[in-house]
Amino acid sequence: MITAVDDQFDQALLRQAFGCFPSGVTAFCGLLDGVAEGMAASSFTSVSLDPPLVSVCVASTSATWPKLAKLDRLGLSVLADDHAPVARSLASKTGDRFGGVDWVATESGAVFVHGATLWLECAPFKCIEAGDHEIVVLQIVALAIYPDVAPMVFHRSNFRELAPTA
Ligand SMILES: Cc1cc2nc3c(=O)[nH]c(=O)nc-3n(C[C@H](O)[C@H](O)[C@H](O)COP(=O)(O)O)c2cc1C
Repeated sequence: MITAVDDQFDQALLRQAFGCFPSGVTAFCGLLDGVAEGMAASSFTSVSLDPPLVSVCVASTSATWPKLAKLDRLGLSVLADDHAPVARSLASKTGDRFGGVDWVATESGAVFVHGATLWLECAPFKCIEAGDHEIVVLQIVALAIYPDVAPMVFHRSNFRELAPTA
């Protein structure tokens, strides 16, 4: 057990704390001037049914978010359990992020990853500054669900798979 009180925790401990919460991983992507841009994002969450809203938190240091922020349509693909290489590629600092990624763009410019368990085509709704991140709220305009595809699980910095309870 690790405990910290009275603000006596640094960012490393905070990262460790946040990592205890398992999440999925999304590919947050769009087409800018004909070029696929995007990033891996585990901060995806559902927000509202009416209107249909989701959110992603992006670091204020992100070089990719200012590009995605210019777009009218954005794709969110909830990655599958065999998408670890895709998640790593879409988070890479160098090289062609989409090089080994099987992706497709809609006519409206949303970019999706093939083999994902969910595609959400989204329009920008609202951005909220929050500390060293921005909360990007998006309105869903179209979706495709692939219920038989198992999602990737991100937990304590590792990519994992769902397992049935005993
Ligand atoms: C599994 C995983 C989840 C990530 N989730 C987020 C996230 O929710 N928000 C974020 O800003 N960056 C996240 N990142 C980092 C981005 O994918 C990317 O590496 C970062 O934005 C730096 O690239 P950029 O400067 O091109 O944006 C994640 C990376 C990985 C591997």
